[in-house]
Amino acid sequence: MDIESMPREQLGICAEGNLHSIYLMYNARDHVEPLLRPCLASVAQYIFEQTDQHADSAFNGFVAVGANYWDSLYPDSRPQLLRPFPSIQYNDLVAPAIEFDLFFHIRCDRYDVLHLVANEIHQMLEGLVELVDEERGFRYMDSRDLTGFVDGTENPKGRQRQQVALVEEEDEEFQGGSYVHVQKYEHKLNHWHRLPQKEQEDIIARTKQDDIEYAAEDKPLTSHIKRVNLKDENGKPKEILRQSMPFGSLRQQGLMFISVCRTPAHFEDMLTSMIKGDGHGHTDKLMEYTQALTGSSFFAPSLDFLLEKV
Ligand code: HEM
Repeated sequence: MDIESMPREQLGICAEGNLHSIYLMYNARDHVEPLLRPCLASVAQYIFEQTDQHADSAFNGFVAVGANYWDSLYPDSRPQLLRPFPSIQYNDLVAPAIEFDLFFHIRCDRYDVLHLVANEIHQMLEGLVELVDEERGFRYMDSRDLTGFVDGTENPKGRQRQQVALVEEEDEEFQGGSYVHVQKYEHKLNHWHRLPQKEQEDIIARTKQDDIEYAAEDKPLTSHIKRVNLKDENGKPKEILRQSMPFGSLRQQGLMFISVCRTPAHFEDMLTSMIKGDGHGHTDKLMEYTQALTGSSFFAPSLDFLLEKV
């Protein structure tokens, strides 16, 4: 397929980082699908237009449909690999599955613009859905997670973001779409901050201040980096694009972890490797200092799919 006929992706999927974000999780009312389809198309188009309108503050966003809701909304066709979030439990580590029908992900370097757009989206959806969860994320220091470690360093860069995140010819109807996984993590910061810095660094396998990766032989098997650095049977790295940001307030704070990828398998394998470990008891020590409160699986179709399927 030449570039002209490629469906247009939703621009928030591969966008670079921002200062602010809003996450809206909705469930649909019963039997609203004939009205909801055109409404979603309008919202996606609106978000697309705001990207031009507010280019100076790098606005971007996307709409994604829950794995368990997809067939109600689009009964005629389903992304080949779309499946529910893999709830995983092993000893004391739990990654729960909490699914939502719709996910709106909007980001911008201006908080006022973001707030305005969120209000607009909410109004457009009025009567069709219920808002089940809302969080607001922010850039912390020089793009650090609230643990104090830089987050996102090893993310794919440039054109590689598209190659990792967007479905291509392997599922023709869903080209330009992306499998999205979201986990809201609440950090146990009191416990974390009591750890000496060297122990924290051993948990991540990078230095804290300068964000330098440990040498391969120094990475503990229980470190986060070791657990998520996976290769397929041909030795090719399994990659995801992370769009995570810190969120919260004094009562509850942590990381909105967001993975976008052309396959759900990479995220699933990484999460399994973190929670269940390597079969020799080496689970991800980072998980002892944070708790996933949610776990949801979505597909963010191309803009053109949403506009066509009304
Ligand atoms: C509370 C949750 C999490 C925190 C605080 C966290 C934090 C970090 C940090 C500090 C890094 C190192 C810097 C970087 O390359 O970005 C990192 C890397 C990474 N994380 Fe996480 N992470 C979390 C959850 C997850 C989950 C659930 C997954 C996937 C299932 C994941 C996948 C990755 C990957 C693929 C890398 C890059 C590894 C590399 O190539 O070196 N993370 N994370």
